[in-house]
Amino acid sequence: MDRLKGKKCVVTGGARGIGRAIALAFAREGADIAILDRNEELAATTARDAEAIGVCAFAITADVSDETSATAALQRAEQALGSVDVLVNNAGIGGNALLVDLSVEAWDRMIAVNLRSVFLCTRVVLPGMISRRWGRIISTSSQLAHKGGIELVHYCAAKAGILGFTRALAYEVAQHGITVNAICPGPIETDMSTTLSDAWRARKLAELPLGRFGTVEEIAPTAVLLASDEGSYYTGASLNPNGGDVMI
Ligand SMILES: NC(=O)c1ccc[n+]([C@@H]2O[C@H](COP(=O)([O-])OP(=O)(O)OC[C@H]3O[C@@H](n4cnc5c(N)ncnc54)[C@H](O)[C@@H]3O)[C@@H](O)[C@H]2O)c1
Repeated sequence: MDRLKGKKCVVTGGARGIGRAIALAFAREGADIAILDRNEELAATTARDAEAIGVCAFAITADVSDETSATAALQRAEQALGSVDVLVNNAGIGGNALLVDLSVEAWDRMIAVNLRSVFLCTRVVLPGMISRRWGRIISTSSQLAHKGGIELVHYCAAKAGILGFTRALAYEVAQHGITVNAICPGPIETDMSTTLSDAWRARKLAELPLGRFGTVEEIAPTAVLLASDEGSYYTGASLNPNGGDVMI
């Protein structure tokens, strides 16, 4: 408790799923929270639930893949919170297609939502973190960045891109007291994973050492660790709560 007391945090994709669990876990640790999501209604619900824990929380509706929308949203969050100490780049989309069937539009959309957004959101909050000489950038990648997966070329490319972004930026900003890390969850029960085909799910369950998909509550503690002082010696890292699916 209170491991993030007084910290000002933004969680993108915080309306539901992993992002919601991270936002609520941060709130339980005393952080004030801006929930940034394209889903206005669910983002407002998460913000209300965080507020009920006893912190300041509010929702901002935005499309993180769009330069104008993402920039304005992060600026608004910074203004309303007073600063942004922790940014969790978590918003993302799924999608399945063999490369031979993958349209340029589907490729571009995947890269824009899952990778471009990380750049767009981070660049707004970084100058403030540099001037305060403290900050945490945490991005939700995926175990599939390491492992790959059939029909997931665009998803894996975007998620592996986050790891490159994380390592490169970690070098750039370490001197300013800012850490940059990624979380690579394994398969987690969320609305996103319900879109997987039965065959894909059965294959995954068969190869998972722990024999089950994870829960969002099994991912949020990793984000708390990386955001808190206890995580101060991690940078450029990818942490892997993944049920043993990729052992690295
Ligand atoms: N569920 C899994 O098995 C799994 C595994 C590894 C990584 N991840 C990653 O974790 C993150 C969260 O996934 P989840 O399973 O909670 O999915 P989810 O679909 O339940 O939640 C994603 C959230 O992101 C928001 N979002 C999507 N596109 C957006 C956009 N353009 N602008 C703003 N908000 C947007 C959605 O509205 C939603 O609230 C994603 O980056 C996903 O790729 C998920």
